[in-house]
Amino acid sequence: MRLVLLGCPGVGKGTQAKFIKEKYNLAQISTGDMLRTAISTGTTLGKQVKQIMDDGQLVSDSIMISLVKARIQETDCVHGFILDGFPRTVPQAEALRENDIHLDYVIEIRVPDAELINRLSGRRVHPASGRVYHIEYDPPKIAGKDDITGETLIQRPDDHEDTIRKRLRIYHQQTEPLVNYYINQAKIESDHSPVHIIIDGVGTVEEVRDRIVKALGPSHK
Ligand code: AP5
Repeated sequence: MRLVLLGCPGVGKGTQAKFIKEKYNLAQISTGDMLRTAISTGTTLGKQVKQIMDDGQLVSDSIMISLVKARIQETDCVHGFILDGFPRTVPQAEALRENDIHLDYVIEIRVPDAELINRLSGRRVHPASGRVYHIEYDPPKIAGKDDITGETLIQRPDDHEDTIRKRLRIYHQQTEPLVNYYINQAKIESDHSPVHIIIDGVGTVEEVRDRIVKALGPSHK
């Protein structure tokens, strides 16, 4: 199974990807996490993208396409993968198609922008593991500390309100056109086009998870 999680910043792509990965035995390819790891380990790529990410802008298509193409070659992707955060532009989606990387599902999670500002401004992360909390909706056992290691949680530099609003604007301008892109692709080449599933992302994490599982069907592990 090859699937894409599509949706605004904060709809819960990362939260749900962790669950889908376990249930369906898939590799999780989170481009945001890959770039954050590059920044924290001080690679050339990390130095190139840090300011762009902190500022809420998109990293260039050429960088993202070569990163994902290389990642998909890794052995854990053989049985399928979840793309979380890619494609984010029409040229990125075209690159998948041109490289014969066919998808089975595009899961579009929808949440109103006002709710997303609450979710992202209250998000706290444990940088070393990528574990994600929310100060109100999914708080750690001890405020500000990771449940497993006790280390300090941080707020992502792009999770401040001005930057969140900018990221939402960029999503609507540059990523939302992918919805029509996949609808049109289905009309033109039905054999290789993914099934487009719309999920209501409002509700608890478990409610949203159950809607996704209902749409995808039982695990084939
Ligand atoms: P990335 O890390 O992909 O960020 P994003 O798409 O903005 O998504 P987020 O991680 O912010 O949100 P999410 O949907 O995963 O939500 P989460 O589950 O954490 O990308 C960051 C940057 O990298 C980009 O801005 C860009 O610069 C660059 N980049 C990455 N990929 C790129 C690409 N392909 N092209 C170009 N540039 C790229 O949940 C959010 C919060 O809500 C959490 O606190 C969580 O606990 C809470 N929550 C989750 N579900 C619920 C629920 N149902 N109810 C209440 N709270 C919930």
